[in-house]
Formats: sequence, C-alpha cells, structure tokens
Amino acid sequence: MDQSIKAYIKQLVQEAIEQSASSLNNLPPSTGRKQYVIANWKMNKNIQDTLEFLQEFKAGNGVEVVVCPPAPLLYPAKLYVQEHNKGIHIGAQNVHQEEKGAYTGETAASLLKDIGCSHCIIGHSERRQYVQEDDVTVNQKAKQALKRGLTPIVCIGETLEQKQQNVTEKVLTRQILGAMDDIDVSQVIFAYEPVWAIGTGESATAEEAQRIHGFIRSVLEYLDAQNAEKVSILYGGSVNENNANEFASMSDIDGVLVGGASLQVDSFQKITAVFAKGA
Ligand code: PGA
Repeated sequence: MDQSIKAYIKQLVQEAIEQSASSLNNLPPSTGRKQYVIANWKMNKNIQDTLEFLQEFKAGNGVEVVVCPPAPLLYPAKLYVQEHNKGIHIGAQNVHQEEKGAYTGETAASLLKDIGCSHCIIGHSERRQYVQEDDVTVNQKAKQALKRGLTPIVCIGETLEQKQQNVTEKVLTRQILGAMDDIDVSQVIFAYEPVWAIGTGESATAEEAQRIHGFIRSVLEYLDAQNAEKVSILYGGSVNENNANEFASMSDIDGVLVGGASLQVDSFQKITAVFAKGA
C-alpha cells in the first residue's frame, strides 16, 4: 500500500475515534436501514430439531430473519419455510471462492443459490481461526457470493489481545478494506463480532458496540460516501433475550447475529420480537 494511502487511513482512524466518542451523546435519528436477526447454528442441530424449530418460530413484521443451519440442512430448511410461507430467509455459514471444480468438501455459491439460499456468512472468526481464512479469501468469497446473487454477511472483529493492545480500530479497518476490495459496500451486510464476546457469555456493552459501529460506518464512508448510511451493521457476540433490547436501542446497530441463543426457539423468538418492534 502506498504511503499516502496509509497516512490517509491513519488520519481517518483518528478522526473516527474522536467522532464516535462524541456521537454517543448525540445519536443521529434512525436512518430506516433494514433490521436483521440472524441465527448462526454453527455445527448444531439435526433434521428433526430444524423442522421443529421452523414450525414453532414466527418471523414477525419489520425484521429480516435469516436462519443459517449446517450445510446438509439448508435444502430441507428452505423447502419447509417456502412451503409454509414462514417469511424466513435461509443462509449458508460458508461458501467457496471458486466457481466450481476439484475442491473436495466445498460448496459453490451457484449451488447455494440453486437450492434457495439468499445469504451467506463470510469470514466468521471461527473460520478465520480454525481454517486460516484471511482478508483476501474473505474478499474472494464475498465476490463469488455476489456474482451468484447471494448477500454476503461479512464478519469482522478484534481478538481479546488486540483489544487489550488498543488496536481494535486498526484491525477493523484492515478487515474492512481487505474484504471490500473492488466490492460495492451497499450490497453487503456487516456483522461486528468481537472475538472475545463470541460464545463467552460476555457481550460488548451496547454503548461500546455503538461506538465501534459508528467507527465501522465511517470507514465505509471513506469507501463509499453515498451508500455507507444504507449499510446494515449487525452486532454479534453473546447476544441473548436479556441484552437484545439494549443493542436494538442503538442507532448504528441494525440487528444481531446470534449463535448460542438462536438454538432455542424461545430465546430466538424473543430476540426477534425486540427488533421487529423497533422497526
Ligand atoms: P454467540 O455466537 O451468540 O454464541 O456468542 C455468535 C456468533 O458466533 O456468530
């Protein structure tokens, strides 16, 4: 990267930190962005659990609900929600960056689209950690998803170590610029998921998350001043039925990506109701 771009980004980061600190007391009015509640079931549930969950769950108005089951359950889940008019989108937890070919065990974006998926989680921290997905791969996957008509849900977030070193904004800037290379930001959903909050029961506070979401939006403004305001930025990391309300009350938090609490239909229903109400 050339020096002048580096200097510009540094300045942008500084300005955004100052701006987001002061914006907490002066929240802008709601911008009418789409609100999302997304279930990331990870490697949980079988076919019976899935169908029971979908039968019981009611989506509600004013909120986009996306359920992301393990890959073999995508098609039966899609058939069920379609047949029963559930108003639920089905999303994948991963996609391969290549069009097709000799990639044993992988799934093509065109196939996900073919079976009725509309969304795809990309760059979840568990994939960054366990299968070494990096910003370049995240960018390739997002491009491939878009090419085949899937909406990428791009996950970003700092580790505990990075938070303690005060490099959260730098890490997020790198992740966003890497993921969005040559991509129109208005076509993507972002999920800010601090790694230290995932599956730990220790979520970010709503104020903390709002400040970071404001920062993320300012980086998106740098990439696309016209469209940054339209991008939905979700929070993820130990969201549950008790804290969802606080996240929903923040102006730059446009929904949640839920792991553990999305496995029980009762808690996921309550979280969804919070965002449906606010719409
Ligand atoms: P969690 O997971 O809600 O269990 O913290 C969130 C995620 O990994 O997307």
